[in-house]
Amino acid sequence: MTAKVVSICNLKGGVGKTTIVMALAEYLAGDTMYRKRVLAIDLDPQTNLTGALMSEEVWEKQFESRKATLPYLFRNPEDFLENFKQHNFIVKENISNVRNRNSFTCLHLIPSSPRLFEIQEDLPSNYSSINLKPVDLIRKIIKPLLENYDYVLIDCPPNINQVTKSAFLASDACIIPCVPNRMSIQGLDLLLEQIDKFNRNYVHNLKPVGTLISRYNRTIAQSENLQSIITNPFYPHVFQTKILERARIAEGLELSNYLTYRQKYDDSHSSMVELAKEFIQRVGK
Ligand SMILES: Nc1ncnc2c1ncn2[C@@H]1O[C@H](COP(=O)(O)OP(=O)(O)O)[C@@H](O)[C@H]1O
Ligand SMILES: [Mg+2]
Repeated sequence: MTAKVVSICNLKGGVGKTTIVMALAEYLAGDTMYRKRVLAIDLDPQTNLTGALMSEEVWEKQFESRKATLPYLFRNPEDFLENFKQHNFIVKENISNVRNRNSFTCLHLIPSSPRLFEIQEDLPSNYSSINLKPVDLIRKIIKPLLENYDYVLIDCPPNINQVTKSAFLASDACIIPCVPNRMSIQGLDLLLEQIDKFNRNYVHNLKPVGTLISRYNRTIAQSENLQSIITNPFYPHVFQTKILERARIAEGLELSNYLTYRQKYDDSHSSMVELAKEFIQRVGK
């Protein structure tokens, strides 16, 4: 079996994309019920997922200084592919601060770097030396890896550029986190339009498999917006599991001391277990 590749995206920032990728990766790879092999990819120059899952020191010394982070792939794919034939651009040890009785089955990360900001502006339309386009690159690097994993989760930046499109082209499905407020709903609308356009232009079938309600605080305004999301037939089917707004979850993006799932996710622990279950049902095994 080869991995299912899933992009987590919304054109609005702050809707919980990174938090959801982190939690899905930790629960799919570590919860005793699932024990999946997971590769997480940080495609956002904000590098929040990288910061949440690995030590800064390891990032700096063993990855960024060796030019083994994603901007270098986009800047000079020929060199990157040649230098890292053994896939040593993947962080394979000490990912995440969650520690429970069972260690992770397999939880790996392809880290990002703020330098991804720089390269987004001036990507070539084609790298003539290898006859590939920027949009082909993520697919190209993960293709030989797919048999090693059950799921590849891509944390997308909140915009549509060549880098985001490379995630789309590599993905079978996408999940769209949405806070039930006007701005996030607009981000959802715009993204769905862009995905349609992308699928037509690239003859691809990126399938939105769900809208995931995130940072839900049950105010009257949010509850009304939630109803409008659930009843809109044009939106991807809303996940039964909803992620509540919780201070402890907000702290989770800081890579702190080792924690158990319950210490890290507090009373959202059971929601995250459910989220992983629903994810497997929707995306497939
Ligand atoms: N369920 C939640 N409850 C409380 N804070 C959250 C929750 N999800 C995310 N956050 C916080 O909101 C901010 C944005 O979340 P993040 O996952 O980085 O969103 P995105 O990747 O979409 O920009 C972060 O500070 C994060 O810790
Ligand atoms: Mg993010």
